[in-house]
Amino acid sequence: MEKFVQIENVKMSFETKRGEFVALRDVHLSIQQGEFVSIIGHSGCGKSTLLNLIAGLTLPTEGVLLCAGREIAGPGPDRAVVFQNHSLLPWLTCLGNVYLAVERVFGRTESRAQLKKRAEEALELVGLTHALHKHPHEISGGMKQRVGIARALSMQPKVLLLDEPFGALDALTRAHLQDELLRIIANLKATAVMVTHDVDEAVLLSDPLS
Ligand SMILES: Nc1ncnc2c1ncn2[C@@H]1O[C@H](COP(=O)(O)OP(=O)(O)OP(=O)(O)O)[C@@H](O)[C@H]1O
Ligand SMILES: [Mg+2]
Repeated sequence: MEKFVQIENVKMSFETKRGEFVALRDVHLSIQQGEFVSIIGHSGCGKSTLLNLIAGLTLPTEGVLLCAGREIAGPGPDRAVVFQNHSLLPWLTCLGNVYLAVERVFGRTESRAQLKKRAEEALELVGLTHALHKHPHEISGGMKQRVGIARALSMQPKVLLLDEPFGALDALTRAHLQDELLRIIANLKATAVMVTHDVDEAVLLSDPLS
């Protein structure tokens, strides 16, 4: 199989008041197309920093990241993120938040009705049909997390970047969404990189080392 995401010799440091803070260094990782990779590590070890780099939201201090053979120079609709802190736009409803992402990816080729249908279907998938018209401040943490998952899946990305996507969910909802996620990823033939603190979850969802 083809190497799809390649991380070569990446260093990420931040300028702080006390000088340079090195969050990541010497990171090398090759991920094949369709592979599911989990990242586990203690709080503050740089997991979200690595996902942000793959998302193209930040650029590395040193080294290079590639997706499908091209340097990652910024965010793109081929790489969707489920953020650890939800990152929903507070002035839009659940439907509006998902619609915005759908429009960005499919807006040039599809009608508004088709786009709305996509957004509604994604929210249905995560069990939020009853909350389409609620705003983020009107829903629970777990529901916000599910809107984030719906938003990412609705974009039909080649690469899904998931930062503790199921952290705030009860066991039953979590198991259901894990199954859905695996099904959707298989359909899309998407590549997934997931941060989790749950070893069982990582074992369940990830591909074994080959
Ligand atoms: N913009 C920034 N400026 C300065 N330091 C930062 C910045 N972003 C992250 N860091 C530091 O880099 C380190 C890694 O942060 P990161 O958010 O990647 O951790 P994490 O592994 O995702 O942790 P958690 O499991 O708690 O989410 C931390 O020490 C953090 O303080
Ligand atoms: Mg994090």
